[in-house]
Parts: sequence; C-alpha cells; structure tokens
Amino acid sequence: MGDGFSVAIDGPAAAGKGTVSKAVAAHFGFAHLDTGLLYRAVGAKVLAGMDAIEAAQSLMSDDLDDDSLRTPAVAQAASKVAVISEVRAALLDFQRSFATRAGGAVLDGRDIGTVICPEAAVKLFVTASAEVRAQRRFAELSAKGITDSYETVLADVKSRDARDMERVEAPLRPADGAVVIDTSDLSIEQAVAQAITVIQEKRV
Ligand code: CDP
Repeated sequence: MGDGFSVAIDGPAAAGKGTVSKAVAAHFGFAHLDTGLLYRAVGAKVLAGMDAIEAAQSLMSDDLDDDSLRTPAVAQAASKVAVISEVRAALLDFQRSFATRAGGAVLDGRDIGTVICPEAAVKLFVTASAEVRAQRRFAELSAKGITDSYETVLADVKSRDARDMERVEAPLRPADGAVVIDTSDLSIEQAVAQAITVIQEKRV
C-alpha cells in the first residue's frame, strides 16, 4: 500500500471518462482503473446464469480482459447489478487499494469521488448532453460492428443514467469539490487538456 496521488473521475454513461482517464494516466504516468469494467464483468456473469453477489465475490482480474464486456446488453446488466449493496461491497477493497498505490492512480466510474476515494487529490465530473453521449457511443459501437440504432443507444444511455442516479447506494452525482467538465462542445484534445490543467494545479 502506498499513499500515491489519486484522481477520481466520475460521470454518466459514455461521457468520455474512459478517454480522458487513459490520456491523463499516460500524461502523468499514473495507473488507470476503469471501474465500470468490474460491474460489466459481474453483469456478464449474471447474463451467463450466475448469482450477482457470488459473481462479485469471486471476480478475477482475467474476467476484466474480455471485449464482449463492451456490449449494450452487458452495460444494462452492469447497471442492474450495480444497485445491489453486497455487489458494491465486494468490489470496494480492490478499488481502494488500487487508488492508494504508490506512483499515482486514476479511477473512473460513478462513485469514485463520493464513496471509493473521497480523499482523492483531484475529483472531476465529466459530463455531456445525453444526445451527444449517445452519438459518441453509437459511433463507437458501429465501428465495432454492433448495429443498434442511435435511438436504441440513446434509450440505453438514459435508462442507465436514471438507474445510476436514483439508486440508494452510491448514486451518481458530482462529489463535493469536484470540477465539472462538460464535453458537449469540446474535442477530445480540449477535454483532456482541461483535465490535465486541473490536475497540474493540484500537483504543485
Ligand atoms: O462506459 P459507460 O460509461 O457506458 O459505462 P461503464 O463506466 O462501463 O459502467 C457500466 C455500469 O456500471 C454503469 O451504468 C453503472 O451502473 C455501473 N458502475 C457503477 O455503478 N459504479 C462504478 N464506479 C462504475 C460503474
């Protein structure tokens, strides 16, 4: 266990958290954890017939290394298991120890600044309009050969946002002290540059 510099990045579905997190991690040499993958891996196991709590308690790092976790069906399953408090509890220690590793860490998700890492040195809330987010996710899925329509993708984004914001445990909201970056009208480069500027200011 170290006491490294940690960056918490939260936000709604397909807001660009992953892109910003990876770029920030590469820029500063921090490790990166996409915590959505933990919930997606549990969701995928539930779709395969397993109990959600057992799946979360027995999760292995190999389970995260699977391209099929990026499908809309798995995303929906992820947001359903994510309301279960035992599932969230089972994934807590792994995320907390990742956050405090020496050398610095960036974690992205829904509850990083509020629950996992309230002491993070920097908290960002990356967001965009539902339409812009759905357009980006639609383009991403189309490039992978997934043929869902834009309307279907928009409905998926909105229903997951509602479930994520309305749940009792660890609901999606900006953490106290979070800097909000609305990427609706920003390029990837501009969003990344804003995030780097905020982090740089806290590092000195
Ligand atoms: O990539 P995208 O933003 O579409 O989703 P994700 O970050 O992979 O997260 C999938 C789902 O996992 C979310 O809709 C949440 O329900 C859940 N999740 C969560 O509850 N807490 C986290 N820290 C990360 C994800």
